[in-house]
Amino acid sequence: MRIALDGPAAAGKSTVAKQLAERLGFVYIDTGAMYRTLTYKAINKGVNLENEQELTRLLLNTIIELEAGDLGQRVFLDGKEVTQEIRSIEVTNMVSKVAKHAGVRKEMVKRQQQLVENGGIVMDGRDIGTHVIPDAEVKVFMVASAEERARRRHEEHKKQGIESNLQQLQREIEERDHLDSTRAVSPLIKAEDAIEMDTTLMNIQSVVNEIILLVEKRG
Ligand code: C5P
Repeated sequence: MRIALDGPAAAGKSTVAKQLAERLGFVYIDTGAMYRTLTYKAINKGVNLENEQELTRLLLNTIIELEAGDLGQRVFLDGKEVTQEIRSIEVTNMVSKVAKHAGVRKEMVKRQQQLVENGGIVMDGRDIGTHVIPDAEVKVFMVASAEERARRRHEEHKKQGIESNLQQLQREIEERDHLDSTRAVSPLIKAEDAIEMDTTLMNIQSVVNEIILLVEKRG
C-alpha cells in the first residue's frame, strides 16, 4: 500500500502524513526535505541556483538520508544532521528555484522511487501522484486557502517562538505556490485520479480519518 499526498505549501500534508504513518504502521517520507537539503548545501557552497548543470552535479555527489525520529523525520546531509537547518526562511524561500530544474528532479524522483520499493509508505510532496508513484493505491491532493495556510504557519511559528509576520508569510506561500505550479517540469498539479480534500474548514483529525477510510476501501 502506497499513499501519495500532494498539495501546495503549508496545506498540512506533513502533519497528516505523520499521523497516517503512525496509525497505519507505515513509513513516512517527506520528499520536500530532500529538495530542501540540496538547496541548503547549494547555498552554503555558493552555487548559482539557476545553474542546472552544477546543481545536478552537486546532487549526484550528495548523500541525503531520511530517518524516522521521535519528533518526526530526521534529515542527514552527507552524514551530518540538518533537520532544523533545512527549515530556515532562507532555504524555504529558495527551494522552488532548485526544484524547478529537470536534472535535479530526475535524480530526486529516482531516489524517491527506490525508497518506495518496499511499500507500506506515506509519501508527501508536489509530484508524488503524478510522477513518483503514478500507480499509488491512494492519492490525495490537499488544498486550503492561502489565508488559512498562512494563519496555520503563523500559529506554528508563534508556538515555536519564531518571529513571524502573517502578511509576509502569506506572500511567501503564494509566491512558492506560483513557482511550483508554473514550472515546466512536473509542476504542482492534481493527478487526474487523486481525491481532492479542501482542509480550510477541516481539522487534521478528520482529514486523517477520511484518508484511513480510503485506505481501508483499497485494502
Ligand atoms: O513540502 P515542502 O514545503 O517542504 O517542499 C519544499 C519545496 O520543495 C516545494 O516548495 C517545492 O518547490 C519542492 N518540492 C517539489 N517536489 C516535491 C516536494 C517538494 O518540487 N515532491
